[in-house]
Amino acid sequence: MRAWQVVRHGPPTEALELRDVAEEPPGPGEILVRARASVLNYNEVDGCHGRYLTINPPLPYTLGMECVGQVVAAGPGAEDWMGRRVTASGRGATGAHADLVTASTAMSFEAPAILDDARAAAFFYPFHLAHLGLHERGRLAAGETVLVHAAAGGVGSAAVQLARAAGARVIATVGSDEKVAFVQDLGADLVVNYRADDFAARALEATRGLGVDMCFDGVGGATMQQSLRCLARGGRHLCVGFAAGIEAEEEPMISGRVLCFGNFDILGVILAYVDAQMAPHVTDYVSVPVPRFNPPTTEIGRRVQAHLVELLAGGLIRPLVGATVAFDQLPQALEAMESRRTVGRTVVTR
Ligand SMILES: NC(=O)c1ccc[n+]([C@@H]2O[C@H](COP(=O)([O-])OP(=O)(O)OC[C@H]3O[C@@H](n4cnc5c(N)ncnc54)[C@H](OP(=O)(O)O)[C@@H]3O)[C@@H](O)[C@H]2O)c1
Repeated sequence: MRAWQVVRHGPPTEALELRDVAEEPPGPGEILVRARASVLNYNEVDGCHGRYLTINPPLPYTLGMECVGQVVAAGPGAEDWMGRRVTASGRGATGAHADLVTASTAMSFEAPAILDDARAAAFFYPFHLAHLGLHERGRLAAGETVLVHAAAGGVGSAAVQLARAAGARVIATVGSDEKVAFVQDLGADLVVNYRADDFAARALEATRGLGVDMCFDGVGGATMQQSLRCLARGGRHLCVGFAAGIEAEEEPMISGRVLCFGNFDILGVILAYVDAQMAPHVTDYVSVPVPRFNPPTTEIGRRVQAHLVELLAGGLIRPLVGATVAFDQLPQALEAMESRRTVGRTVVTR
């Protein structure tokens, strides 16, 4: 089968090679998916460069986190998945940019029937991750104000919509005027181009100096530090990603004084559902040791999915496909993502 493999570290057009490789047979609790589409995820940019330490398999390996397609084989215990149309994450959050993708059923969901393949592909990670952040971790309440960074991106655009659907007020940040218009269309109440304006000052102005109740932060680094200037008493800062530089993931982020006087919380968010009995033992996602790996369980994932499908059916959220590219154009499309030229999700067709 065809697979985009990281064969050396560097920019995507240098790191990736399209190779003919054997599929990996599904093991217990796993399925094999014939992918019809996969999507680009910012983590893959870092993966090409070899700087994403959490998922950094030995070379060569097949890149890709998310796909949509049909289940064509099933391992022991997963037989009832045969033939289903699913959105799935490749084993160990790799392997999705291939014709056949081996995936754990814990990270696979029935593709919502009302979505075509491209939209189903664009739905899974952004909306699950945004839901886990805003609701499971952040306990968002109607009437609260949420600051969403990288709001035109795949995950950010989902967070804007989910926050609006929950009755929250949304202040969004983006890096260009075109993206301002894009996020206004999603229903954000205030959109700030951070290159032209001080987003923390604007957020404080918009909240009568009180600050925002939650910050959904997929950018990290200096953006996180600046965000803490406008986080309210009892506020929640969600560490979702580090698009500004994954190195920040390894650095100390905050002093006790900032937390103590801010009187707010800083929360981590990880999308990696595993079966409850396996949760404390699973290490296949992390290639560098962490003090503790506490992924959410499959049960949480099923509950999140059910709520999201309801919101989809009610027309309250919609997956955003910013671009569709052919399979052989994948490295160029990843470079467009790296240089911040993408909006929503980029879907790679077969
Ligand atoms: N926690 C988890 O389990 C998990 C899972 C998947 C993904 N993530 C993270 O979620 C975040 C969003 O992922 P995504 O796939 O939806 O990406 P994305 O938001 O579509 O693309 C990244 C965006 O980040 C912004 N950005 C800010 N500083 C940047 C920089 N120095 N270089 C490049 N972009 C920069 C850009 O938007 P502007 O032009 O508006 O600045 C860019 O478009 C990423 O940090 C990703 O690693 C986390």
